[in-house]
Amino acid sequence: MPLDLDALLDAMTLPEQVSLLAGADFWHTVPIPRLAVPSVKVSDGPNGARGGIFKDGPSTACFPVGIALAATWDAALIEQTGEALGREARLKGARVLLAPTVNLHRTVYNGRNFECYSEDPWLAGEIAVAYVRGLQRTGVAATVKHFVGNESEFQRLTISSDIPERALRELYLLPFERVVREGGAWAVMTGYNRVDGSFMADHRRLVEEVLRGQWGFDGLVMTDWAAAHDTVRSVLAGCDLEMPGPARERGAKLVEAVQAGRLPASAVRACARRVLRLAERVGSFADPTLPPERADDLPEHRALIRRLGAAGCVLLKNEGGLLPLAPAPGQRVALIGRAATVPQIMGGGSANVNAHYRSAPADALREACPEVGFTHHPGADIHRLVPRQPRPMTLEIYASADFSGPMVATQTVPDSEVQWIGSRPPGIAEGTPFSCRARLEYVAESDGEHAFSLVSAGRSRLAIDGVPALDAWRDWRRGSTYFTFGCDEVVHRRRLRAGERLALQVEFSSALPDVPGQQAGVHALRVGASRLLDERDIEAAVAAARGADLAIVFAGLNAEWDNEGLDRPGITLPHRQDELIAKVAAANPRTVVVLQSGSPLLLPWVADVRAMLQAWYPGQECGHAIADVLLGAAEPGGRLPQSWPARIEDTVAHGDPAAYPGVDGHVAYTEGLLIGYRHHEARGIAPRFAFGHGLSYTRFEHSGLRCDRPTLRPGETLGVALTVRNVGPRAGSEVVQLYVHDEQSSLPRPPQELKAFAKVFLAPGESRELRLTLSMRSFAFYDDRRAAWVAEAGRFELRVGASAADIRLRVGVVLEGEWVEAVEM
Ligand code: BGC
Repeated sequence: MPLDLDALLDAMTLPEQVSLLAGADFWHTVPIPRLAVPSVKVSDGPNGARGGIFKDGPSTACFPVGIALAATWDAALIEQTGEALGREARLKGARVLLAPTVNLHRTVYNGRNFECYSEDPWLAGEIAVAYVRGLQRTGVAATVKHFVGNESEFQRLTISSDIPERALRELYLLPFERVVREGGAWAVMTGYNRVDGSFMADHRRLVEEVLRGQWGFDGLVMTDWAAAHDTVRSVLAGCDLEMPGPARERGAKLVEAVQAGRLPASAVRACARRVLRLAERVGSFADPTLPPERADDLPEHRALIRRLGAAGCVLLKNEGGLLPLAPAPGQRVALIGRAATVPQIMGGGSANVNAHYRSAPADALREACPEVGFTHHPGADIHRLVPRQPRPMTLEIYASADFSGPMVATQTVPDSEVQWIGSRPPGIAEGTPFSCRARLEYVAESDGEHAFSLVSAGRSRLAIDGVPALDAWRDWRRGSTYFTFGCDEVVHRRRLRAGERLALQVEFSSALPDVPGQQAGVHALRVGASRLLDERDIEAAVAAARGADLAIVFAGLNAEWDNEGLDRPGITLPHRQDELIAKVAAANPRTVVVLQSGSPLLLPWVADVRAMLQAWYPGQECGHAIADVLLGAAEPGGRLPQSWPARIEDTVAHGDPAAYPGVDGHVAYTEGLLIGYRHHEARGIAPRFAFGHGLSYTRFEHSGLRCDRPTLRPGETLGVALTVRNVGPRAGSEVVQLYVHDEQSSLPRPPQELKAFAKVFLAPGESRELRLTLSMRSFAFYDDRRAAWVAEAGRFELRVGASAADIRLRVGVVLEGEWVEAVEM
């Protein structure tokens, strides 16, 4: 029998209703035992269900990051992924997953582009709808985030995204609209940012009027973590749940606001009803248990992740068919780059999970080709923060901010970083300050310059052999780490000889100077200690490449660059990686570059390497997925979900501080509709690699493009068909992309826009007829003068191809009259 939510609400006191409107803690809603109202657990995030502990909690399956999922262009596979993530969430006792992230790649700088799907709203929407359908089929709610205009991390807690209405509707709102209307998402998370000056948690027009009113969203809206700013406004805006708890803006403040007549009790009741409705939808009333977190490592999820990794790999270049590789027994292959042995599996921030394992490319290649002689040289660094010590660190913990009193506990963590985010050290009660001390031994592995560093959310300092060396204590200042609640890294360098031993003593205190906006419950300490790679490392790598039959360079970024909390400084490969690749390519003409990043990179050496694969961050099966593609056990199934520019000057908002990163707290989306390929095409700037690009190990022919009729009446849908044939030697998949070009319109439009696509798998010689469907919205633009979607009468050209720049077929269709869909309620 369905629950009578109204009867339940009638039975509640006002404070009880209000209690539902904020979390109990970081990850739970508030229960009301008297009325058998359950607590619901939520968990990050998009590429795995982390559970309640930020670092080193029960392990979990790590899936490819958002951009890698979108690069598959495979809705069916993403639906399976959503379903798998639902099972993963359940293993962590969670019934709400804080995913997917559907903000767009507006600029190349956004630190969270790795987590977002695409620069194109149609592709992002298609992937998100599939993800949400799969996820919610398991009874776990999706939380589509971050609604809306959250396209950068600069001043992320306060920035206002000032977005022209047309761009808002046609680009940034579109994935949310589709995931609500077509995917039936049960929850939405508002962004930290403001839009046109108003915080998203308070944004009545966008939450109450657009999301609920115009799109008919009947689910729950929650704030991003600590993004609630106002007691009354956010409730009136229809933002139901303040997270995390305990309440900062709600609780007693909200009860008082109702009692003082500053907002009607009916507004509280409406929000409380939606919290109950979510609990009902995810089955928490039927089964209110909050089981302990499990770390089950499921073989079927391992297999799915491996498949996904290869399906998202984009073969950017493959001159002379260098790939797939077929190394003969006895051949020598030089593996070069840090990422060959230190697998880069995910991005940073709240999407980070404690993966069950991390398969490394070097291991996977050795395993697949036991007869081949592999060597490995790291060549050049890739880090942003000095690498951690991979050995366990034991902390002695004191229940005071200054080491006074007795030690109350010890805590051992697997490496030299500890995070207490929404959790406390052992023996330390909520709200109690604490301090801790750890001793580490550092042994220099070889001669050269070594770096030691500290990052902390809380104060920290480090002494080497008893002498103070690093101070993030006296001058601690909030910086860009730990969601901006940690300081910037402080670094100390010194030359050491191989075998030299140093005693490091690190101290940490939770007590901080009174920082406005400091988030309670975010404490962390990270100690870096590592030799810095230098000339000798480049020389050794180049020498190995010269003496080998083949060189494979693993280059790119890591989760410290592609990270929540800060944007990227640019799109150049960090440290000396460009120099390394250029020198290796000069030493060995058979050089393959495997790139890993969450967004575009500049490739000054691109003409000198024969093959390039973009593997993104493919999750825990990283090494296997990359090896599968390199060796041809799997095909490179991915296509770029974003344009790759040839120069930074060619990118959106470059050189205009008002447009990026923003001035005086506002970032103006002055480019309007022109982001990604829309920008490149409208301005006639050729990209390095176009949106939708990705080669295959086989070849496809497209033919016979036709519409099911030459003219269309307003309101009709149009069927489009074509034949795709695999004319190459191997099985493979083709992503057929359909772009619509409006030949004449009363408002300026981008030259073409993606409106449909399909991925088709074909054996050699096989052909298939594909059918795509276009609706009126595929032809429409948003007319801000009329507040309506309008498809104007006239001729449209439908363009079909293998990327935005590789259009193979065109056909015209005429819309006989104007179609208008007003959006106002
Ligand atoms: C992020 C969200 C995330 C939340 C909870 C925030 O910092 O922006 O995406 O779900 O933290 O970890």
